[in-house]
Amino acid sequence: MKHTLALALMAFSLDAATASPLNVEARQGAGSGAGPYAPGTYKTDSSLQSHTIYYPTKTPANNEKLPVLIWGNGGCSNVGTSNSALLQNIASYGFLAVAEGAPSGGGTSNSASMKAAVDWVTKTAGTGAYANVDASKIMAAGFSCGGTEAMDNVWDSRVDTIGVISSGLLSNYTAASQWRKPVLFVLGGSSDIAYQNGERDFKNLAAGVPSWKGNINVGHGGTLNNANGGTFGKAILNWLLWTFKNDTTAASYFTSGYKADNWQVETHDLDQLKPF
Ligand SMILES: *[C@@H]1O[C@H](CO)[C@@H](O)[C@H](O)[C@H]1NC(C)=O
Ligand SMILES: *[C@@H]1O[C@H](CO)[C@@H](O)[C@H](O)[C@H]1NC(C)=O
Repeated sequence: MKHTLALALMAFSLDAATASPLNVEARQGAGSGAGPYAPGTYKTDSSLQSHTIYYPTKTPANNEKLPVLIWGNGGCSNVGTSNSALLQNIASYGFLAVAEGAPSGGGTSNSASMKAAVDWVTKTAGTGAYANVDASKIMAAGFSCGGTEAMDNVWDSRVDTIGVISSGLLSNYTAASQWRKPVLFVLGGSSDIAYQNGERDFKNLAAGVPSWKGNINVGHGGTLNNANGGTFGKAILNWLLWTFKNDTTAASYFTSGYKADNWQVETHDLDQLKPF
């Protein structure tokens, strides 16, 4: 059963990754996103060749720093543009996002390659082109198999919060009871193959761990391939804006704003969340 689910998480997203190469090419260079620093775009850096780096093309004023999202793709794919609509939009709000895999990368990623992105951020933040990157604010998140990488990196003291998107633990089943960081769960409803796992992990959270879990009945694939990552993308962006930029409008999405988007929500000690 466990093996079957792992294979399913893998297979599903390889489909998703190959479904929209034309869209990805069209966006390349031009960038996209709806934030104040749009367009968000992406590049590679010779110091981190196996990842894709998303950044805002307009520089935030007043020395505002860029918090960081480290992103794992579905299928643990190493195609760094698998979720480029989502990540360009997040970048356009004043974040650096590092996705696993080069833009046209191949093969698969794992928890260690996600950690390599955290290592790179902590080494390069504050230097050169990354002078305004804030390595003290790091979220690790991912879709499906990528979400399992984020959960594996929750133990890393440099990671402040994690995002579990259409995902849940595939081993070490009770580990969520040991997590001590805010957790965002974004799930695709009861037809999502990861639904039971995500629900279980949410239920296992210890007292005092702030968490928001939202389901919409869209299935495992969610809405990440929609413009700006769709409704899933909206929840991920608002979580980043709340936890790392102390944005009160974004915070209110998790107490009331979500209702307009038809999420089915459960929260866990969410009132204890303190922005970083
Ligand atoms: C499994 O969970 C425990 C906490 O319950 C944690 O200390 C350990 O690092 C986890 N192992 C892996 C491989 O994630
Ligand atoms: C967040 O904003 C509130 C007021 O809106 C303020 O009291 C609090 O200190 C801020 N937190 C951080 C970490 O900046």
